[in-house]
Amino acid sequence: MSYKKQLIELRGAENGEARDNRSGVTQAIVEIFEQAITAGELGPGAKLPPTRQLAELTGVNHLTAARAYRQLAERGLVSSKVGSGTFVRAAAAAIPGSERVKNSIAWQRYVLPEFEETYGDRVLAEMHSHVQTEGLIPLSVGYPSERIFPIEEMRAATHEVMATQPERALQYSDVRGTHELAEQVAVLSAARGEEEDPEDIVITSGATQGLSLAMRAILTPGDVVACEDPSFMSVIRAIRAAGAKVQPVPVDEDGLDVDALEALLARTEIRALAIQPRLHNPTGRDLSPERRERLLELARRHGFFVVEDGIYGELRFDGEERPSLRADAPAHAIYTDSLSKTVGGGLRAGWVIASGPVLDRIIAEKRSDDIHTPVLNQLVAAEYLAQGHYPAQLERAREHYRRGYGAMEESIERHLGGVAHYLEPLGGGHVWVTLDSPVSERDLVDEAWRQGVAYAPGGAMSVARTQDLCLRLSYCFLEPDEMDEGVRRLASALETLSVRPARRAAAPV
Ligand SMILES: Cc1ncc(COP(=O)(O)O)c(C=O)c1O
Repeated sequence: MSYKKQLIELRGAENGEARDNRSGVTQAIVEIFEQAITAGELGPGAKLPPTRQLAELTGVNHLTAARAYRQLAERGLVSSKVGSGTFVRAAAAAIPGSERVKNSIAWQRYVLPEFEETYGDRVLAEMHSHVQTEGLIPLSVGYPSERIFPIEEMRAATHEVMATQPERALQYSDVRGTHELAEQVAVLSAARGEEEDPEDIVITSGATQGLSLAMRAILTPGDVVACEDPSFMSVIRAIRAAGAKVQPVPVDEDGLDVDALEALLARTEIRALAIQPRLHNPTGRDLSPERRERLLELARRHGFFVVEDGIYGELRFDGEERPSLRADAPAHAIYTDSLSKTVGGGLRAGWVIASGPVLDRIIAEKRSDDIHTPVLNQLVAAEYLAQGHYPAQLERAREHYRRGYGAMEESIERHLGGVAHYLEPLGGGHVWVTLDSPVSERDLVDEAWRQGVAYAPGGAMSVARTQDLCLRLSYCFLEPDEMDEGVRRLASALETLSVRPARRAAAPV
């Protein structure tokens, strides 16, 4: 019987005890609603009849009806909004009524806000789990192998810090970070010929936090941010998390397509541009000097921030270092970087460099995020840098990345020649491969997984999922023979999906 009918039947109980007993009739009304909610007849958000209508239906007075609703509210089943009425709460269906469901976590499903996980987020989360998956070759993992970690130097630096300033290492500190590490970061910038004031440096927990703080500092919901497409997934997520819209701007072998940016600026106002001008992940390419000049001119003319990620900037295989954008436009460029790709990501030693009022906003965001980056990590990183180990470590890391690419290049030529082409990276840890024939990205990811290899699918690194013929293969984590086997499996997955190498024309006899 519907709950409404049951309520009407209460009226017939005029001769019964319930009518004579105010608490009895209230109890009866409460139980009818409770059953209707538990059975799903009244679902989350359903509106209950107004108290006057309930009073008429059941033949009780208005006060009794109001009392019944109050009791339902006390049980967590309904809530009232002044002027709009009484509604079934989202979590009501999962309110544990019996001992058996006392510790049920089901209610969380009703009350948690919808989780908007993007394709890129999911791929990023999966990539971290690839490392642990038995038998899977993770060409997707974009961080360096443990083999390059400076273990002995770090041991010595940690020992030194704990021997000389253990209290400081364990105490809260300034939100910006320790002055020792800020000074060492300024030394790293100076080694590239770029002068930075340690006062402009905020130590962060990795470059990821730096990107997120920068975005939150400059954006309000509804703003538009231009972003290289493809790009690093976490920067796309940081922009969206700040409530802004992301506008993709293509990249090619000379970096960001500045003509496309200019066309975008002609029709939309942007608050910021997210860019990796040196050794971009995933393409491994630089922004050309001509485009760099034009880009900075556009930033000044249109008044937007440039959120510059320099994380791979020093991992160039050969040739001259390129200057950061910030070197020429400190008023516009907010620079983020870390030791993650050269020393070790587990340290979470990152930083943001910014000038002007935006710096205070970044500091405020940092404070509300985590008060400060762990002091022990900061002191150890600063001690390690102060002991002068970094130049040799950087050379070791460069050599590792350079050799990794050499091996990867051979494997691609060997196994994917004729089915794909790639952009030759100038440094960094990834190669951006494009398939010559169309194949469903989802099918290829699944088939590759079945055959025991994982890679970063291009669609996941793209703002609008437009790069779905592309694959990012990383060469900084695996040994050459593992990489070769991974690329062979990938070729085999493509073959299973009937993407075969183009037949070479027979040589004339
Ligand atoms: C382009 C880029 N920026 C930032 C990061 C994040 O670095 P961190 O580990 O220091 O947070 C990564 C890590 O893969 C990256 O590839």
